[in-house]
Amino acid sequence: MRGHWSNRWVFVMATAGSAVGLGNIWKFPYMTGVNGGSAFVLIYLLCVALIGLPLMMTEIMLGRRAQRNPVDGMAHLAAEAGSTGLWKVIGYMGVAAGLFILAFYSVVAGWVLDYVLRAVSGNFLGMTAEEATNQFSSFIAKPGELLLWHTTFMVLTMYVVARGVTSGLERANKIMMPSLVVILLVLLGYSLAVGDIRHSLEFMFTPDFSKITPNAVLSAMGHSFFTLSLGMGSVMVYGSYLQRHASIARASFYIVLADTAIALVAGITIFAIVFANQLEPAAGPGLIFQTLPIAFGHMPGGTLFATLFFILVGFAAWTSSISLVEPAISWITENTSLGRRNTSIAVGIIVWLMGVGALLSFNAWSEVKIVGLNIFDLLDKLTTNIMLPLGGLLMAIFAVWVMHATHAQEELALNDKHYRRWLFATRYVVPAGILLVFLNLVGWLPLI
Ligand code: TRP
Repeated sequence: MRGHWSNRWVFVMATAGSAVGLGNIWKFPYMTGVNGGSAFVLIYLLCVALIGLPLMMTEIMLGRRAQRNPVDGMAHLAAEAGSTGLWKVIGYMGVAAGLFILAFYSVVAGWVLDYVLRAVSGNFLGMTAEEATNQFSSFIAKPGELLLWHTTFMVLTMYVVARGVTSGLERANKIMMPSLVVILLVLLGYSLAVGDIRHSLEFMFTPDFSKITPNAVLSAMGHSFFTLSLGMGSVMVYGSYLQRHASIARASFYIVLADTAIALVAGITIFAIVFANQLEPAAGPGLIFQTLPIAFGHMPGGTLFATLFFILVGFAAWTSSISLVEPAISWITENTSLGRRNTSIAVGIIVWLMGVGALLSFNAWSEVKIVGLNIFDLLDKLTTNIMLPLGGLLMAIFAVWVMHATHAQEELALNDKHYRRWLFATRYVVPAGILLVFLNLVGWLPLI
């Protein structure tokens, strides 16, 4: 018998816990900066609303109907619809994507853990922009510490995973997530008071299409998948633990809304600090580590807030990372006699190794390039820009063109009007959107 969430809110909290993570606090601001601001934000928001929301519903629906891990789940649903077992590739691709993402995710989560200690020790007090930038660059220049923290984070993740999904972590999540929101609002307050909010809002929201390139469009779409945990089966697995009779639409709406709001608040806050201190918005992956210490270093109670902030971000990363390996773990445990514990150890070691490659990209192996990208960027780009949207595309196609309409409708339990909207979005908007971005990128359809 499969375990199930004890009630609908536990599911919403867990899925929101999966969605809200480094994607919101670390990646969204840095990607926005690298891609020139507002046009990226606008495309990201469009993708969240037009592709992300319907796909969130679709992925939960597929998982709940299948009641299995993503690989066997897709095979089961395909059989039920009288189609080919090849649909399993969605599951395989998802299992792989989750492990690839976790490898670099764990490295960045390790930076967050390191910054908890820096925060506690009062390191940020009075910190200047230059000091903050130097602190980060000398930190990532040495593999030793990065390795220690990456290892710590992987152990934390696999420990929880080994013990099963509905354990204490999800209960703790109920306190941690709202606390993170509160601290983000404190930071926003600081930015409103002394940051350059006007410039920040202008950078993020005044459309400037001169900055937009096919690659930025792809990154914005890819990020909408990444931040919502879509396209690889995380949400499918969580949906498979969801009992019948829970409203998929409402849950999806809350999760997408919360995730987006948190990212926007983080972005506005960080760019206000960036512009007030003449920092570089396009600084890359180090952006929050180079800006937030300045803010914390100058606000009353900064040491306490900084410590809490990095602990909470670490926590948010933890709840996300668990969902990244869950497809792999559930697939292996449901098909072998290995058991959760051994599976977790084995999978953990594989991911840890890939993560070592990712962390060396910032120092010893910075010259090691595959298709022009270092290992860190390769793991990120391959998953975010290709595997996740492709997974999402296939799920959408499957849900509306392969599955029996009555089955989808029964699972979603929507009224007619909403069902037709979901159907239209999933049948046309989602596939067309993803395909357009892909074709545009390879130059077959030069829109931009
Ligand atoms: N969404 C999480 C974040 O923003 C990361 C994540 C968890 C994820 N599970 C996922 C990304 C599945 C893609 C697919 O930090």
